[in-house]
Amino acid sequence: MPYAKIVGTGSYLPPRVVSNDELAAELATRNVQTSDEWIVTRTGIRQRHLADPGVKTSTMAVLSAREAMQNAGIGTDEIDLIVVATSTPDFIFPSTACLVQAELGVMQGAAFDVQAVCSGFIYALTAAEALIRVGRAKTALVIGAEVFSGILDWSDRSTCVLFGDGAGTVVLKASDEPGIIGAQLNADGRQKDILYAAGNVSCGKVVGDPFLRMDGQAVFKLAVNALAQSAKDVCAEAGVALKDIDWLVPHQANVRILNFLSKKLHIPLEKVIVTLDKHANTSAASVPLALDVAWRDGRIKAGDLVMMQGVGGGFTWGSVLARM
Ligand code: ACO
Repeated sequence: MPYAKIVGTGSYLPPRVVSNDELAAELATRNVQTSDEWIVTRTGIRQRHLADPGVKTSTMAVLSAREAMQNAGIGTDEIDLIVVATSTPDFIFPSTACLVQAELGVMQGAAFDVQAVCSGFIYALTAAEALIRVGRAKTALVIGAEVFSGILDWSDRSTCVLFGDGAGTVVLKASDEPGIIGAQLNADGRQKDILYAAGNVSCGKVVGDPFLRMDGQAVFKLAVNALAQSAKDVCAEAGVALKDIDWLVPHQANVRILNFLSKKLHIPLEKVIVTLDKHANTSAASVPLALDVAWRDGRIKAGDLVMMQGVGGGFTWGSVLARM
């Protein structure tokens, strides 16, 4: 059975960078009070990239995919699977993955979306890995892409300061050498009410509340415990010690969650990739964006053991262990 190996990464961030101060000034014009000081101390976020109105998830996904394909040195004729993790698809259907396939000019293979909010990339990577391992695909684009700014209520300061837009892609290829060596997915639908965007489209109208709503403290408590347990479980299953992890690439939601994880798992902060200060929380895009940053700046090297982790609405969470 072949392994599935990450052979290239790519990312795309919208060019408009909005600092906390700029956001606070903009929100003040709507009578919403916040500050750089509050946002930095509570979350670690200093700025976010925001897509201009009309920019679609598929557009950002394609730009990150092109960069990843170039980085991996693969052409469109080799790709036989595209999985896009997103909670902000362009349309109800067709899937964003099909739009990406058409835009890239890929003429073969399967394409589908995965919806697991901020765990979406970990779910998508695990699905693609499974298809490669059983021989149903050979070369996959696994993409996390979001225009979360489109589902934010800009009058709700407890959520609108936390998120940004972006896309990240990995190229996953069948390989004789490892590869992804462990994966673990979880969900607890009973926690559906702590993080949700509950609107839908019916009879031509948006029905219900289309904006993201969150019980921040409940999410925080569940997230830290879920991520810590998942890290232990995936390592135990793969027969790897936590101390052998070279890099932890967790979902980027709150620096306090990352500090807690680092302490609880005894993984020093120097081994934790942190991009949320620059990107904020980009939901399904956050892990591939962080991986791409650390791969390109040379911190993550070939042969390193990387643990990627997601946690988000659903409630969903999971971990993937990859030998780079
Ligand atoms: N600026 C200024 N004040 C604010 C802001 C803001 N942007 N937002 C909230 N406040 C105020 C509140 O009104 C409250 O004021 P009060 O005490 O007068 O009532 C005070 O700050 C404290 O609010 P809390 O909600 O208790 O703040 P907390 O320390 O819990 O931090 C936060 C909130 C940052 C949201 C935190 O709970 C958190 O990060 N939770 C995890 C969120 C997360 O991980 N989300 C992503 C999940 S992944 C996904 O699927 C999307």
